[in-house]
Amino acid sequence: MSNFAKTKPHAVLIPCPSQGHINALLKLGKLLHLRGFHITFVNTEYNHNCLLNSRGPNSLDGFTDFNFETIPNGFTTMETGDVFQDVHLFFQSIMMNFIQPFSELLTRLDASATADLIPPVTCIVSDCYMPFTVDAAEQRALPIVLFSPVSACCSLTTSHIPKLFQNGVLPLKDEIYLTDGYLDTEVDWIPGLKNFRLKDFPETIKIKDPNNLLIKFVSEMTDKCHRASAVILNTSNELESDIMNELYFIFPSLYTIGPLSSFINQSPQNHLASLNSNLWKEDTKCLEWLESKEPGSVVYVNFGSITVMTPDQLLEFAWGLADSKKPFLWIIRPDLVIGGSFILSSEFVNEISDRGLIASWCPQEQVLNHPSIGGFLTHCGWNSTTESICAGVPMLCWPFFGDQPANCRFICNKWEIGLEIDKDVKRDEVEKLVNELMVGEIGKKMRQKVMEFKKKVEEDTRPGGVSYKNLDKVIKDVLLKQN
Ligand code: UDX
Repeated sequence: MSNFAKTKPHAVLIPCPSQGHINALLKLGKLLHLRGFHITFVNTEYNHNCLLNSRGPNSLDGFTDFNFETIPNGFTTMETGDVFQDVHLFFQSIMMNFIQPFSELLTRLDASATADLIPPVTCIVSDCYMPFTVDAAEQRALPIVLFSPVSACCSLTTSHIPKLFQNGVLPLKDEIYLTDGYLDTEVDWIPGLKNFRLKDFPETIKIKDPNNLLIKFVSEMTDKCHRASAVILNTSNELESDIMNELYFIFPSLYTIGPLSSFINQSPQNHLASLNSNLWKEDTKCLEWLESKEPGSVVYVNFGSITVMTPDQLLEFAWGLADSKKPFLWIIRPDLVIGGSFILSSEFVNEISDRGLIASWCPQEQVLNHPSIGGFLTHCGWNSTTESICAGVPMLCWPFFGDQPANCRFICNKWEIGLEIDKDVKRDEVEKLVNELMVGEIGKKMRQKVMEFKKKVEEDTRPGGVSYKNLDKVIKDVLLKQN
């Protein structure tokens, strides 16, 4: 083996196989690469092929010290058309099908290390939603860092759910929680979570059976976070200090290293700059179109990679946006609308004319950072939330599931950088809130506030900042530590 191979640390990174998770972990991979790591990034075969389809064949080859590997899908991709059902199958598959191929991959990587210039694996950085990786690391006595791509708030809530079952708070006692009034009830079950309502929690709190697979998954994840060498979060103390104070009690080896968007924006660019992880092909006309618009004038609308809506909800958004008379860029994924097909009438198309552009996928961070963007109508995925903050763009929130209602609560109630649209979306409300955000006094204040957050998180992620120092610390104390 050459000296190079002996000295370079080799981190194997594995995201949960979903767009938002892959994007966040790829950013971390780039940062570790900049700090001298050889990186192996592991996707499922299905997602790897999506990347190749969207970027072009061979587009993932030839990055020095940054290789892509695959493991089998373990499940037959999202295909039931029911997100909640799919999520169930998805987590079941993660619990049952991934450990063996992942362990075999580690063995293969180590075997090839003796034959060429790829260094032996020295550490694992795994999405915490892939908890089996802790077993694989323990079998090899490798340091393992679990990466949480969601907010600290979501991590805190998730880590409490098993306990809430144990101490009898869950399951909720009756069906009353299904009524709107009750969902507005504030609860104080979890230290550190203030002004939190039932409806801000993930769906898991409505589960009746403590043996339900999702509850088991959450317990498993929490257990593995305790066993990992360290846990790192894609957040900043500037955003979630109260929550972090609670989490430090639960997980002693815990570090905030985000927002990764801000970290990457401020990092020196290298040959990986062009590498992104979009599973859908980007429609590049979006950026050209934005060039033709006034600064701060455009509403950007995107519901991420998983959210779905009914054709009626789509129409309410469409007419709300049209009636607002503001320019908008709307990303409608091919699978956004339940049932697949939707029709936007010629009346709508004539009404929006050049004021609206509809595309199927875009380079979101470039869009958000374009000077023409003035607001973001979002489903509040954690990546979208932090990317919007890092771009200094206030939000309109229509959360769908999981961590998104909690993120929405933080955006609208705690940070005051966004306005919430009712779940039962109506065009009049969309029109009113778009105008409030884009040209109203409330919007003006929110724009100022989000710019303050942008500056704070930039400080956190540049040399000397908390997240910057934390990343160095994790590398030195955990990832480079010899067992
Ligand atoms: C999922 C969950 O749904 C979310 O709640 C959780 O916080 C992370 O994992 P997703 O719904 O896809 O993610 O949303 P989000 O977290 O916002 O991630 C979407 C990612 O895709 C972002 O990084 C965004 O920049 C990127 N994207 C999205 C694009 O690049 N182009 C698009 O057109 C849409």
